[in-house]
Amino acid sequence: MSRFGRFDDTAREYVITRPDTPLPWINYLGNEEFFGIITNTGAGYAFFRDARFRRLIRYRYNNAPLDVGGRFLYVRDARSGDWWSPTWQPSRTDLEDFQCRHGLGYTVIGSRREGIRCESLFFVPVAQTLEIWRVRLTNERPEPADLSLFGAAEFCLWDAWDDATNFQRNYSTGEVEVVDGVIFHRTEYRERRNHLAYLACSAQPTGFDTRRDAFLGPYRGWDRPVAVERGRSGNSIAHGWAPCGSLQVDRTLGPSETAEVVFLLGYTENPPDAKFDPPGSQTIRTAGVRPVVERFTRAEEVEAALGEVRASWSDLLEILQVGTPNEHADRMVNVWNPYQNMVTFNLSRSASLFESGVGRGIGFRDSSQDLLGFVHMVPGRARQRILDLAGTQLPSGGAYHQYQPLTKRGNDDIGSGFNDDPLWLIIAVAAYVKETGDRGILDQAVPYDNEPGSESPLYEHLQRAIRYTLDRLGPHGLPLIGRADWNDCLNLNAFSETPGESFQTVENREGGVAESVFIAGLFAAAAKELAALAALHGRAEDAEAAREARVRMISVVGEHAWDGDWFRRAYDHAGAVIGSTENDEGRIFIEPQGMCVMGGIGIDDGRAELALASVAEHLATPHGIVLLQPAYTRYRVELGEITSYPPGYKENAGVFCHTNPWIVIAETLVGNGDRAFDYYLRINPSAREPISDVHRCEPYVYAQMIAGKDAPTHGEAKNSWLTGTAAWNYVAMTQWILGIRPEHDGLRIDPCLPSDWEGFTAVRRFRDATYRIDVRKPGSVSGRVASLVVDGDPVEGTLVPPAPEGATVTVEAAIEP
Ligand code: BGC
Ligand code: NOJ
Repeated sequence: MSRFGRFDDTAREYVITRPDTPLPWINYLGNEEFFGIITNTGAGYAFFRDARFRRLIRYRYNNAPLDVGGRFLYVRDARSGDWWSPTWQPSRTDLEDFQCRHGLGYTVIGSRREGIRCESLFFVPVAQTLEIWRVRLTNERPEPADLSLFGAAEFCLWDAWDDATNFQRNYSTGEVEVVDGVIFHRTEYRERRNHLAYLACSAQPTGFDTRRDAFLGPYRGWDRPVAVERGRSGNSIAHGWAPCGSLQVDRTLGPSETAEVVFLLGYTENPPDAKFDPPGSQTIRTAGVRPVVERFTRAEEVEAALGEVRASWSDLLEILQVGTPNEHADRMVNVWNPYQNMVTFNLSRSASLFESGVGRGIGFRDSSQDLLGFVHMVPGRARQRILDLAGTQLPSGGAYHQYQPLTKRGNDDIGSGFNDDPLWLIIAVAAYVKETGDRGILDQAVPYDNEPGSESPLYEHLQRAIRYTLDRLGPHGLPLIGRADWNDCLNLNAFSETPGESFQTVENREGGVAESVFIAGLFAAAAKELAALAALHGRAEDAEAAREARVRMISVVGEHAWDGDWFRRAYDHAGAVIGSTENDEGRIFIEPQGMCVMGGIGIDDGRAELALASVAEHLATPHGIVLLQPAYTRYRVELGEITSYPPGYKENAGVFCHTNPWIVIAETLVGNGDRAFDYYLRINPSAREPISDVHRCEPYVYAQMIAGKDAPTHGEAKNSWLTGTAAWNYVAMTQWILGIRPEHDGLRIDPCLPSDWEGFTAVRRFRDATYRIDVRKPGSVSGRVASLVVDGDPVEGTLVPPAPEGATVTVEAAIEP
């Protein structure tokens, strides 16, 4: 068995046909403030805004058996006493017809057992702070069935970190309140919290439980709750220990009859001065949430809310739809890649099954890059994200590495002084202005470090970002790396000898002079963007200064960072070269080959082509391009975390997927469409679907890493979903291979296609006009656009000028060898 499901392209769903996928395959519910992670067996967890501080339900990440937790459904047949989990977990009872459909913003899990069919739909309605679980039970037996349905959740005591560690306190604080059949989780509401979680249901429950040990029974797990086994709830009230919510609904179903029960798992807040009702009492005020519960337990409201979720995704995806000769490209570009881009935008690197939600918030460089993949869908939210990020920038031009979504304040929790960080902001702002034409954002006043009174125009923030690099050049004139650059694990100033110490936060050794060629390449790219923004902003002198700084940096790269066949990677604390033929391990790295060429270095003089040929020769594998070769085989204190990984994993010569699209883009910059598309397909999750048993992660989204050729598990993916890989592959495919590229003065149509394609079509909405694009090319040749016809008129070059609002424009491009 090498597949565990299939794509349903028409429904835009991935259909998983057996519950025991190699790893839990997840989906995300919610798109604004309230989010749920749901696996193919219904497990997972939900949170409001912040996966650490406002977590509603508990999930144990590294549990055995895998993936027990979060939401629980049980069906019990009163006549036989048989009972099971219709989503397979947690009871893992045998089921017929198991099917999990992960769609855009919703998941449906269906199964059948002993003639009882159950279909459960999970989603978060647009702009609401609750999850809907709609359960449909159908009796396919010839005789009536007496059924009990239990819907349950184990509450997290809000702060997921504290919840998992501080038992001496938490075993005494848990509180619930049951009001009119709705279970409210109210731990710490008596003191400083003004928020509640609740579990409600569309039917009058026949019973409930809120004490985990009463529901499960002593020494039992969620796979065998005693209340379900005996078919009767305990109506228990939790005092401390582990509060949970379970609601029992009993139904007798005639042959072919269907019952629908809606459970709601929600989050609600009361004003801090109106927490109790009557005022002065300790009884929670439920007036605010009651209408919400009433509304979303009605079948027609659920249906309408689902329709709204679907429509919102269709609207977003419609902004770019393509028709190419390759189904994997189409599927990813039209559906799954932009979907993943929205998830990375929403959650940065905080919450997945590989990110626990407790440590990492919104990353500065991560979000700046993620933005490249979602700016066309939600430009307003992209604008806000840019301002939020810039608002955490430091007066020096440097940046906090992350901020916490609840407070939007930057922090050093996962380290600071990553010298590439601020440059990414320029890349993000440039992409935003190109997409929207909104130059006004450059005038927007933004504080530094969130300090009121420190505001300056965003434009000044960008200038400071450039200056931050120029103020920190090393002995060769290359940018100092600081704590690390894009590669968080290249800790050239850390020298950590203490077990368990974080490479990201350990104090750097004094006088760190380690330099990064990657930052030099990124600087070349960013300075070019800044020069263009400065010119648009009417600052000709600044534009000239940025251009000159770029030229100087490029010449330093030529002098000190070109190794003969490829770009070097760095110079370490002692001034020794990294990523050179002089090294025995780590002779060639992928990042500078991608970023230097993207920064425009070496394109005119053949070095770009040489560097890319070296990538093909030394780094490319059938499972993608590895980060470096040869892998480091022992720990090197002067290099840091990169050498802490076994060979072939993560930054130590894994296929670190984020970097692969940089090479794809670089290949298009030297006109090599065949190699660009070949690399694109090697890590395309849909193209890897037939080897799901090797790949193991979801076949519908990118993973951060695929084990490299030095690893015993070469080809195995890890860390799916939250990765910059998503945005960059989207950019590489849509803007560089298909060549549909927003620029300041219009929409560039400049594809670099594989030679066997005969063209493609696309519909792109851009600045309130619609472009219907048809690109034609003779098969079996490579070439670039030779003629462009816009609305019937030939246009010089490859730029389509912006059309008036509301216009539909026809673009015909012909490619010739
Ligand atoms: C990982 C990096 C990651 C960093 C974040 C490291 O352990 O290998 O991929 O960027 O942690 O702090
Ligand atoms: C994952 C981090 O989120 C990202 O910021 C970093 O660039 C890569 N790992 C590479 O280390």
